[in-house]
Amino acid sequence: MTTPIIRTLADLRQAARRWHMAGETIGVVPTMGALHDGHLSLVAAAKAACDRVIVTIFVNPKQFNQTSDLDNYPRTEEEDARKLERFAVDAVYAPDVSQIYPLGFCTNVSVTGMTDVLCGAHRPGHFDGVATVVTKLFTQTAADKAFFGEKDFQQLMVVQRMARDLDIPIEVVGCPTIREEDGLAMSSRNLLLSDRARVHAPRLNEVMEEVTEKMAQGTAFSALQAEAVARLETAGFTEVDYFEVRSCAALQLLDRPTEPARLFAAAWLAGVRLIDNIDVPVTG
Ligand code: PAF
Repeated sequence: MTTPIIRTLADLRQAARRWHMAGETIGVVPTMGALHDGHLSLVAAAKAACDRVIVTIFVNPKQFNQTSDLDNYPRTEEEDARKLERFAVDAVYAPDVSQIYPLGFCTNVSVTGMTDVLCGAHRPGHFDGVATVVTKLFTQTAADKAFFGEKDFQQLMVVQRMARDLDIPIEVVGCPTIREEDGLAMSSRNLLLSDRARVHAPRLNEVMEEVTEKMAQGTAFSALQAEAVARLETAGFTEVDYFEVRSCAALQLLDRPTEPARLFAAAWLAGVRLIDNIDVPVTG
């Protein structure tokens, strides 16, 4: 079935109103396109939980802190629509900038505290851009549930907080990270990796797994961190933005977790920034 594409807010509102009037629930999967199996797993989760499913495709200029990054971001709308055919989603909402940020737009949604660390510390303004666009997408689609990948764990936390703080009546559902066979977390940015870099990219996840295994045996993270970063550098990662264990609830730094925690990493490989996070055993 060809995927219906909606381009304007007016058409989107009309469809959403019709579905809600019929007593149907709406699920939204916000994306920036270049869809991979990680996105498709979110679509499958939305299909299983909701009567109607909208996939949004919008490369949000407000969340990029470098113009070159925005310019290079992969845009594959036709292929994306084809990939969605087997899911029979009810609409792809692919607006242009004027539907999201009309002339004179001057509102910023900022979630404080939890955005000072990890990606927030390395990409100034990024999470304001995410929170602002996601607020718009939630209110424009009037969805009942929204589906986000745990690969962007901090983003998931920020969006959950924002929806709660702004009383947006939507349930934000986190879904597990989907990986390539060699462990690399699926990401649209993987398309930007050269063949050579692609060979080295899974090392990020491998090193993370090695660290959490040692932590499970009782070693403190502080005894493992420096060597793990050095191993990434040996594998060709030029800069490690962060390699840290933090609590799931408040993203607080931890050494021997006594509460649910994750190991978070972001590192550059041949000009591409890769991020990942995995569960850390509670040992304390
Ligand atoms: O995760 C993404 O692809 C983006 O940050 C999102 C949530 C679609 C907002 O632009």
